[in-house]
Amino acid sequence: MGASTTAMILLFAAAVHVYGYNRPDEFSRKRDHLHRMQGILERRSLQQQAPRSPSGPVVYHVTDYGADPTGRNDSTDAVLKAISDALNGPGRGVLFEGIVNLGGARVDLDGGNYLISRPLLFPVSGRGNLAIHGGSLTASYNFPNDGYLLDLSSPSNSTYNYEFITLRDLLLDSNYRGGGISVTNSLRTTIDNCYVTRFNTTGILVQGGHETYIRTSYLGQHVTAGGDSGERSFSGTAIALAGNDNTVSDVVIFSAQTGILVTGQANLISGVHCYNKAAGFGGVGIHLRLPGLTQTRIVDSYMDYTGIVAEDPVQLTVANTFFLGDAFILFKSVKGVMSGVNVVDNMFAGGDRGIEIVQLEGNFGEVDQVAVDRNAVKGMAVKTTVARASVEGEGPSWTADLGAALIFPNLIKQVQYTFISDAASFPRHFVRNVSDNKVVIQSDVAVPARVYVTADQGGTYL
Ligand SMILES: *[C@@H]1O[C@H](CO)[C@@H](O)[C@H](O)[C@H]1NC(C)=O
Ligand SMILES: *[C@@H]1O[C@H](CO)[C@@H](O)[C@H](O)[C@H]1NC(C)=O
Ligand SMILES: *[C@@H]1O[C@H](CO)[C@@H](O)[C@H](O)[C@H]1NC(C)=O
Ligand SMILES: *[C@@H]1O[C@H](CO)[C@@H](O)[C@H](O)[C@H]1NC(C)=O
Repeated sequence: MGASTTAMILLFAAAVHVYGYNRPDEFSRKRDHLHRMQGILERRSLQQQAPRSPSGPVVYHVTDYGADPTGRNDSTDAVLKAISDALNGPGRGVLFEGIVNLGGARVDLDGGNYLISRPLLFPVSGRGNLAIHGGSLTASYNFPNDGYLLDLSSPSNSTYNYEFITLRDLLLDSNYRGGGISVTNSLRTTIDNCYVTRFNTTGILVQGGHETYIRTSYLGQHVTAGGDSGERSFSGTAIALAGNDNTVSDVVIFSAQTGILVTGQANLISGVHCYNKAAGFGGVGIHLRLPGLTQTRIVDSYMDYTGIVAEDPVQLTVANTFFLGDAFILFKSVKGVMSGVNVVDNMFAGGDRGIEIVQLEGNFGEVDQVAVDRNAVKGMAVKTTVARASVEGEGPSWTADLGAALIFPNLIKQVQYTFISDAASFPRHFVRNVSDNKVVIQSDVAVPARVYVTADQGGTYL
C-alpha cells in the first residue's frame, strides 16, 4: 500500500514535470503576446529572422506574418507564407522515404478568422509531422470555384506528397465558392474537429494516398439544423473518398446533395449522422460508386431521412445503423452483380407508407453470399434474403408465398420446412415446387397440418 502510493506520487510528479518542461504552447503564447505589445513594426522585423533553431518551439503564428484575424483584409499571402515557412522549416530526419519530418511544427491561426482569396495550396511537398490549427478560414467572393481553401495536392518526388499532416480545430467557410479541404496522394492525414461549410463543390476531397482520418467534424453546405426551406436545392458533396483505407468517424453531415461519395476501397464509415438532404428531395446520404469491388463498411451510423446507394456491391457491410424517416438502401445494378453483402442488425423506422427497407434498381443476375436479415423494422416494409412463413390447412398441399418479403424476384437457393400435424396417420410429404418465390409442400393424403417454411436467397451451399 505504502509502496504503491509512493509510486503513484512519483509517477504523477514525473508527468507534471514532462508536461511543464515540454510546453512550446505556453512559451509561444507569451512570445506572441510580447510581439503584439511591441507592435506591428517590431513584428515584421522578427519575421525576417531565419527559421527558429530546431531545439526551440516551432510554431508559426499567422498573425506574425501580418494576417488579419478580424477577417476584413485579405490574408492569403500571410497565411501562405506561414505555411510555406513551416514546410521549409528545420527537418528532423525523415518519416516515410522522401518525407521530411518537420518534428511536430505547427501553424497556429491564433483564433482568428482570415479572408482567403485563392487556394492555400501547400507550396512544398515531401513533408510530414505538421499541424495547422485553431482558427477560421473564409473564402472571399472571388475565390475560384474549382479551388479548395486548404489544398494538399502539390506533387512530390516521393511516393506520397505528405505524411501525418493534422488539420485540427478549424472552421472552413467556402462562401459558396469551391471546396474546403483537398488531400491528394498523402499518407496518414488527420482532419479533426473541423466545421466545413458553404462549399459549392466538395467539403473534403480525398484522392489517392491512404489513411486520411476524418473524425469528430461537421459538414454542411448551408448552416441549418434540419427542416430548412431551401433543402430541395442543396447541392455539392460533403465528403468524397476517391482513395483507399480512409475512415470517417463521428461526423455529422447536415446539408449537401450527397453526404459521402465513396469511389475507393477499404474505407470505414462509422458513427456518421447524415441528414444532408432527404431522399424525397433527391438527396443521397452515402453513395458507394465502386461497382464490382466495394469493400466498404458502414457501421453504427444514423441515416436520417436519407439513405445509402450502392452500385453492384461486392463485399459491403451495413450494420448497427439506424435508418429514420423511410430512409432505405438502394442497390443499383450496373452489370447485375451482388456478392458478399451483409445488411444486418440495423433499425429502420418509417411512416407506414409501405416503403421497403432495401430496394433494387435493375436486375441482379449474379447473387452470392448476400444476407439481409435480422433488421428491426417499424413502419416500413421488411425485405430480407431469409424469409419465413407458416401455413395452416387441411392439405394435401400447402403454399407459402414469400414474394412480399424476399428481395430478389424468383430466387430461392434453399428451403427448409417443418411439418406439424396431430393426425393419427403418418402422411408422406415433400417439397413439390419452388418457383416465383413460392414454396409448395405436398402430402400423399389430406391431413390438417401447419407447415413452417424458411427460404434463403443469398446463401452459398456446397
Ligand atoms: C487592413 O488594411 C488596411 C488598409 O491596408 C490597414 O490600414 C489595416 O491596418 C489593416 N488591418 C489589419 C488588422 O491588418
Ligand atoms: C524532383 O526532383 C527533381 C530532380 O532532383 C527536382 O528538380 C524537382 O524540383 C523535384 N520536385 C519536387 C516537387 O520536389
Ligand atoms: C457553384 O458551382 C456551379 C457549378 O457547379 C456554378 O455554376 C456556380 O456559379 C457556383 N456558385 C458560385 C457562387 O460560384
Ligand atoms: C411449379 O409452379 C409453377 C407455377 O407457380 C408452374 O409453372 C410449374 O410448372 C410448376 N412446376 C412443377 C414441377 O410442378
